[in-house]
Amino acid sequence: MRHKPIKSKLFSENRKRIAGLMGAKALAVVNANDVLPTNADGTLPMEPNADLFFLTGIEQEESVLVLFPDAAEEKQREILFVRQPNQHLQIWEGYKHSKEDARKISGIKNVQWLSEFPGIFRGLMCEAETAYLNTNEHKRATVDVETRDDRFIRGCKRDFPLHDFRRLAPLLHELRVVKSDLEIELLKEAVDITAKGFRRLLRFVKPGIAEYEVEAELTREFIKRRGKFAYTPIIAAGKNNCVLHYLQNDQVCKKGQLLLLDIGSSYANYSADMTRTIPVSGKFSRRQKKVYNAVLRVLRASIAGATVGKLHKDWTKESQAHMNEELLALGLLKKSQIKKQDSDNPACRKYFMHGLGHSLGLDVHDVGDMNVPFAAGTVLTVEPGIYIPDEGFGVRLEDDIVVTENGPVNLMAKVPIETDEIEAVMNR
Ligand code: GLY
Ligand code: MN
Ligand code: MN
Repeated sequence: MRHKPIKSKLFSENRKRIAGLMGAKALAVVNANDVLPTNADGTLPMEPNADLFFLTGIEQEESVLVLFPDAAEEKQREILFVRQPNQHLQIWEGYKHSKEDARKISGIKNVQWLSEFPGIFRGLMCEAETAYLNTNEHKRATVDVETRDDRFIRGCKRDFPLHDFRRLAPLLHELRVVKSDLEIELLKEAVDITAKGFRRLLRFVKPGIAEYEVEAELTREFIKRRGKFAYTPIIAAGKNNCVLHYLQNDQVCKKGQLLLLDIGSSYANYSADMTRTIPVSGKFSRRQKKVYNAVLRVLRASIAGATVGKLHKDWTKESQAHMNEELLALGLLKKSQIKKQDSDNPACRKYFMHGLGHSLGLDVHDVGDMNVPFAAGTVLTVEPGIYIPDEGFGVRLEDDIVVTENGPVNLMAKVPIETDEIEAVMNR
C-alpha cells in the first residue's frame, strides 16, 4: 500500500461502535472485494472493500472479518482471516500480509489463515442466533455483479437455514456517515494532494493543450504524492462543460473556452471530490465571470447553510431558491417562471440540474441516510453549477466541507477559487 501506516485505533474504534449496534448473540461478517477478471487472463486493479477497510484497515484480497461480540471465548470476539503467503504467491505477486502484519494494521489479535475459516465459522454459527451480513445498499447503485459477500450470503443461508439473518449495511451506513477525527485527517490529506494537482494545472493549461494531457499532469501529481484518482476525472473544455459525466477527455482546449475540472485524489481510500472551472487562456470573459461569480455566491451560501440538524432536502431547497435569484439576475430565468414553478421541480433545474452535494468519505458518493439531519462530523460536497449549452459553456464549483457544532469547516478553503486569484496564478 502506498499510504503511510494508519493508527489501528481508527479501525478498533469502528469495530467497537458497530458491536454496540448489533443485537445479542449476533455475529457479523465482511468479505474483501473480488479481483475481477479482464476478458482474457488478466485482472483489473482491485478496489479495496470500503467496509472491510473501515473495520480493519485491510486492503488485501480474500480477507474476511468476523465480529462476534458475545462469543463465549474472548479470543473469538474478533477474528481476521487472511490468505496464507506461499512460495507461488511470493514469486508471482510478491508480498502478502503475515499474521503479525495483519495484527498490526487492524489491531485484531486473533488472525487466522483463510483455510481455517470454514471450521472456525461453523463453530461460531452454532453459538450465534443471528448473522449480520453485508450487501450493497447504496440507494443509487445498480448492481449487476455478484460480490464475495453476495456469494457468502447464499452459502451461509444454505448451510444455516434456521438462523436469523440481518442487514449489516444500515449499521455501517449509520457509522460511516459521521467521520472521526482520524478519518478527517486522511480526508485532509486527499484534499491536499488534490489541491497540489490543481495548482499544477493552473500553470499548465493553455490553448492547444489536450484534455488528456491535463489528465496526465494530474496523474503524475497524485501518484507521486501517494494518491490516486478517487474517480474518473472530468476534464471538459468548452461546450463539454455542460456534459455532467463527461469522461472522454480527448478534446483540445481552445482560447476563450472554459475548462471544467472535476478532479479528486484519494488517499488511504478516503476520497476528495473537487471541481474548479478555469479559463483556458488565463482570462475569463465578462459573461463567463458573471456566471462564475453567481455559482460562487451559491457555493458560499450553501457552505454556510450546512449546519448541524439540517435536513439534506431543506439545505438543497435553500440553495435552489438562491440559484433562482442568481439566474434571474443573469437574464436566464424570468420572474414568471419562478412564480409558477413546481416546488419539487424548481425553475433553476433548467440550468442547475443535479444535486447540491453528497456525503463523502471512503466512497465518493458515500453511504449514509440523507433523510437523517446533518450531524457534527458529516462530510459533504457542495457543488452548485450553471450550465448554458446555448452559450457554449458551464460553470461548476465544488468544495468538501465538514459539518461541526461550530459551523461548517471548508476543507478546500485554501484552494484558489476567486476569478482574480485564478487569473493571477495562470498568468504568473
Ligand atoms: N465527481 C463526482 C461528483 O462530483 O459527484
Ligand atoms: Mn466532483
Ligand atoms: Mn461530488
